Amino acid sequence: MLNETVAGLLNTQVNKEFYSAYLYLDFANFYEDEGLKGFANWYRVQAQEERDHAMLMIQYLQNNDCKVVLESIDKPNIELNQKMDPLKQGYAHEQYVTSLIHNIYAAAYEVKDFRTMQFLDWFVKEQGEEETNASDLIKKMELFGDDAKSLYMLDSELGGRVYAAPSLVL
Ligand code: FEO
Repeated sequence: MLNETVAGLLNTQVNKEFYSAYLYLDFANFYEDEGLKGFANWYRVQAQEERDHAMLMIQYLQNNDCKVVLESIDKPNIELNQKMDPLKQGYAHEQYVTSLIHNIYAAAYEVKDFRTMQFLDWFVKEQGEEETNASDLIKKMELFGDDAKSLYMLDSELGGRVYAAPSLVL
């Protein structure tokens, strides 16, 4: 069994990861409506990754004989008007998720829960990559978003993203 606080935080994080998937699906739907199918694809793949994160946490909790309690997932609390809006909100959201992962890590560190710290190492690295991706997308949109041809090429590039199962195996 895991420490009660650590297990509770991980259980809460399951909900946060499913919310992330929901949020990114909302972004994908926004871009579909805008006719930017490549951006929509990028966020659909991101939503799949977020679901994977939740599933990995569920599996980790169950591997450690902890009960998983699923709570309702909030409606995405955002307003999307401009093409840049999802990109900026996505970046801010990833920074928030990083802070949550770090909080769980700190709680595990506090009780010398080395197993959970090792499990979370993958997520710490993943958050770094996701923040970089989100920030890079903003920079690209700032550079090319106002030019129709460049936006078309950027959309084509993002349309090439394919889903890959997570590299973390439990
Ligand atoms: Fe699962 Fe992007 O945090």
